[in-house]
Amino acid sequence: MLTQDDLKRNVAHAAVEYALSCLQPDSVLGVGTGSTVDFFIDAIAGHRERFRAAVSSSERSTERMRKLGIPVLDLNDVDDMPLYVDGADEIDHGMNMIKGGGGALTREKIVSSVARQFVCIVDETKVVDVLGRFPLPVEVIPMARNVVARKLRELGGEPRLREGFITDNGCEILDVSGLSITAPADMEAHINDIPGVVCCGLFALAGADLALVSTQQGVRRMVKGSATGEI
Ligand code: A5P
Repeated sequence: MLTQDDLKRNVAHAAVEYALSCLQPDSVLGVGTGSTVDFFIDAIAGHRERFRAAVSSSERSTERMRKLGIPVLDLNDVDDMPLYVDGADEIDHGMNMIKGGGGALTREKIVSSVARQFVCIVDETKVVDVLGRFPLPVEVIPMARNVVARKLRELGGEPRLREGFITDNGCEILDVSGLSITAPADMEAHINDIPGVVCCGLFALAGADLALVSTQQGVRRMVKGSATGEI
């Protein structure tokens, strides 16, 4: 029986193989944040010469990559990125995701918006029929915390402030439980429109292009509108 760390390591290694098939020596790789991505960073560091540099979605990933000798560029100096690799807290079969469990959702959404392809790396426990079992993170400007919380309650959710946590952007996070997200893109657009919201942890308006899903039987591929298959 593989542990969750084994599953994360396996999917990270599959993602490295996939990334290497897409990258050129002058390519810039987009890198997400989280424990699964940590395994990805550790594994791709051994192939440093296969790409030019990375753009990072968090201080945490930046520090890890620099320690391993991967140059990290400012996003403002990059205008093309073939690939962005990141984990998720939940993903549905339409490739919509909840992200932000690690609090890096805003930079993740910004960096991934530049990439031509979003590759999501998860273990099978994160694949769901309907998003919302994992509380939805919403990054807010601190002065707007309560007004945003009231609006989120009107949507049927129960927001809770992530105590003692400040994002890389100096903001706060409300984790919203009790939502059953059957129309993820509509909900993302709606939450984005609430004044004071910096970023909503729904990635549905632009979801994943490919998911690599780690299972006890191996790593499977999932793409929108298609069954999973072995890789
Ligand atoms: C970071 O803010 C998140 O979006 C992560 O990508 C997500 O929480 C998955 O993290 P793990 O790989 O640690 O489960």
